[in-house]
Amino acid sequence: MALQSVFVITFVLFSCVNALSSNYYDQTCPDAESTIRQVVKKAMSNDKTVPAALLRMHFHDCFVRGCDGSVLLNSTKNNQAEKDGPPNISLHSFYVIDVAKKQIENMCPGVVSCADILALAARDAVTLSGGPYWAVPKGRKDGRISIASETRQLPGPNFNISQLQQSFSQRGLSLDDLVALSGGHTLGFSHCSSFRNRIENFDSKNDVDPSLDASFAANLKKICPVKNTTKNAGATMDTTTFLFDNAYYKLILQKKGLFSSDSTLLTNSRTKTLVLNFANSQHEFFKAFADSMIKMSSISGSGQEIRHDCRFVN
Ligand code: HEM
Ligand SMILES: *[C@@H]1O[C@H](CO)[C@@H](O)[C@H](O)[C@H]1NC(C)=O
Ligand SMILES: *[C@@H]1O[C@H](CO)[C@@H](O)[C@H](O)[C@H]1NC(C)=O
Ligand SMILES: *[C@@H]1O[C@H](CO)[C@@H](O)[C@H](O)[C@H]1NC(C)=O
Ligand SMILES: *[C@@H]1O[C@H](CO)[C@@H](O)[C@H](O)[C@H]1NC(C)=O
Repeated sequence: MALQSVFVITFVLFSCVNALSSNYYDQTCPDAESTIRQVVKKAMSNDKTVPAALLRMHFHDCFVRGCDGSVLLNSTKNNQAEKDGPPNISLHSFYVIDVAKKQIENMCPGVVSCADILALAARDAVTLSGGPYWAVPKGRKDGRISIASETRQLPGPNFNISQLQQSFSQRGLSLDDLVALSGGHTLGFSHCSSFRNRIENFDSKNDVDPSLDASFAANLKKICPVKNTTKNAGATMDTTTFLFDNAYYKLILQKKGLFSSDSTLLTNSRTKTLVLNFANSQHEFFKAFADSMIKMSSISGSGQEIRHDCRFVN
C-alpha cells in the first residue's frame, strides 16, 4: 500500500514537472511571445513561403521524438540529423527560429526552449496567414538527439487512411485530429516527387489515380514531366497557397487533393463527414485545427535542456 502511494506521488510529481502551461514564461520571459511574433511577421514580409515552412517544421518536430526541437539540430561530424533525412527537400526557413532565439537569449538567457519557440512560431505563422489564434502551452525542453533515419517515422503522402490512423494514434492523436491537422495543407508547396505516384504508372490498370479529377491530373502531369530536370518543380498545396483557409477541404471534395493522403480522407465515413463539415464551415475548421494543434504540440519528448543555440546541443 505504502509502495503504491509512493508510485502515485512520484507519478503526480513527474506529471507536474512535465506539464505544459500557457503562462509558463509570464514571470521569466514575459516578452518572448511578442518577440517571436515580430520576427515571424518580418520574415513573412520578406518571404511568403515562411509560414508554411514553420508549420511543417513544427509537425515534423512533434512526430519524431516528440516536440523537443530535434528537427532544428544541425548534423555533426559523427551524426546525420533529422533535417538531413529523406524528406528534407521540404524543410526550410530555419533561420527564422535562429533570429527569434538570438533576440530572446539577449533578453532572458537560458530560459526559453527552442521547441517552445518553434511551437509559438508555427502558431503565429497560422494566425498571421489569416488562420485561428490559440494559446500555446509552453514548457517543453530541448532534446539532444536527432537522427536522420528517424524521419522515416513520418507519415508519407501515399499513405492510405488506415496507415494514417495508425501513425496518428501512435502519437495519441485521433481520426478527428488527422482531418483537422491535414488542413495544414492549406499553406505551401509540394515537389513533384510527393505526388508522382498518382500521375504516372499508378497501378496495373491506370496510369493516373482514378480518384483524381482528370483535368487536375493532366495539369499536374504537365507541371511534372518525367524528365524535368528542374529540381524544384511542383504544385501549390491548394488554390490559396498563402492564405490559411478551408479551401483545402473544398478541393478534396472536388477530387483535387494533391496527395493520396489527402484524398484518402474521403474513404472513411467519419473522416469524410469531417471533410464535409470543414468545407462547409471555416469556423468549424478553425476551432478544430486550434484544438488539434494544442494536442499535437503537446506530444512529449524526453528533452532536458534549454539550448543556447537551436542548431547545437549545449
Ligand atoms: C497527414 C499526414 C501528412 C502527410 C502524409 C504530409 C505530407 C506532406 C508532403 C509530402 C509535403 C510536401 C513536401 C514536398 O514535396 O516539398 C507536405 C507539405 C506540407 N505539409 Fe504536410 N503532411 C501531413 C501532415 C501535415 C500536418 C499535420 C501539417 C501541419 C499541421 C502539415 C503541414 C504541411 C505544410 C505547411 C506543407 C507545405 C510546406 C512548404 O511549403 O514548405 N502536414 N506535407
Ligand atoms: C547548419 O547546417 C546548415 C546546412 O545544413 C549550414 O548552412 C549552417 O551553416 C549550419 N549552421 C552552423 C551554425 O554551422
Ligand atoms: C537530404 O537527405 C539526404 C539523405 O536522405 C542527404 O544525402 C542530402 O544531403 C540531404 N540534403 C540536404 C539539402 O540537406
Ligand atoms: C493500406 O495500406 C496497407 C499497406 O499497403 C494495406 O495493408 C492496407 O490493407 C491498406 N488499407 C486500406 C484501407 O486500403
Ligand atoms: C519543369 O518544371 C518547371 C517548374 O515547375 C516548369 O516551369 C517547367 O515548365 C517544367 N519543364 C517542362 C519541360 O515542362
